[in-house]
Amino acid sequence: MTVRAVCVRPPAPGAILGEVPPPPLTPGTVLVNVLECGVCGTDRDIVAGRYGSAPPGSPYLILGHENLGVVREVASGVGGFAPGTLVVATVRRGCGKDRFCRANKSDQCETGEFTERGIGGAHGFMADQYVELPEYLVPVPTALRGVAVLLEPLSVVEKAVFMGQRVIDRRGNTPGDPPTAPPAALVAGTGAVGILAAFLLRVRGYEVTAIDRRGAGTPAAALLARIGATHRSVADGLGTLGAHRFDLVIEATGSTSLDFGLVDLLGRNSVLVLTGIPDASEPPTSVEAGRLLRDVVLENQAVIGSVNANRSYFEAGLRDMTMFEEKWPGALATVITSRRPLAEFLTAITDRISGSMKTVLTVVS
Ligand code: BGC
Repeated sequence: MTVRAVCVRPPAPGAILGEVPPPPLTPGTVLVNVLECGVCGTDRDIVAGRYGSAPPGSPYLILGHENLGVVREVASGVGGFAPGTLVVATVRRGCGKDRFCRANKSDQCETGEFTERGIGGAHGFMADQYVELPEYLVPVPTALRGVAVLLEPLSVVEKAVFMGQRVIDRRGNTPGDPPTAPPAALVAGTGAVGILAAFLLRVRGYEVTAIDRRGAGTPAAALLARIGATHRSVADGLGTLGAHRFDLVIEATGSTSLDFGLVDLLGRNSVLVLTGIPDASEPPTSVEAGRLLRDVVLENQAVIGSVNANRSYFEAGLRDMTMFEEKWPGALATVITSRRPLAEFLTAITDRISGSMKTVLTVVS
């Protein structure tokens, strides 16, 4: 017997839907049937041959890290999971050597010797089945079945916003807090990560502006209006935003030239959190480094990066998904702009469909 799996051979470009041996249910593990897998820019980079690595000793890597599955079988002695439970697996597996990895915070691994399922050194979830240790499986309420495939990207957003908020909180309190005007957030990019950031920042009480290079009338612009965020097209440059400055900027594009421009949109005592992963082989960019860094110092600004997310951010994401559903019933589901069968994995990954927020591959319906 074999199972279907989307296989890549990094650093070679390309991907195939292969037949691979089924993952064995070993003691202490859980066998999961994959229901859905989201497609993101990281998958695109791996298929283009720019990123990723196969597990040691394996000629291929099974792709896919945004996942939703259902428990099929539980090895004896594993508590807390029964067949039929919906689960989302976290992505990173720690090196086990440093204090963060030992404390289930492998997103902050200090040795760099971690693996990431579907990305680097460990097989992913674009397959009929996978096997995992229970500590990496987050049980999902059935009410979230239609949206839980968004939990992994939301976990990345949860961490970025948490980290940004911690930096903002360094300002400390003053008499008369909280201020009467809501804090202002800018989200750069209206793909799934940007849109999910807008959802989260709205429930955190921010006034949210989200920018992209697309015009009005996109599904993203409509969704932003629905959750009380403002959409602005910056097709003509960031100057379109005028003198507006922000307390928290979440970047979700990976565009180097845009990132430097975002520093100019920071207010005093504010923070820019970068989440997009730029292409390391991009040609050098020229920036007004002196002016840029001078302003960072003179205005108490911070620019930080945020990658991956540990289990606690997946759990926070589940709580917030429930809140999104209560506040804007049905809105979160519209972030998924298309669902396609696993067989269409290649076009789903490589086609850049205008107006798309998230493409999801249906593995089992
Ligand atoms: C994933 C993260 C991962 C990062 C870097 C992102 O697409 O969501 O889990 O850490 O890529 O590999």
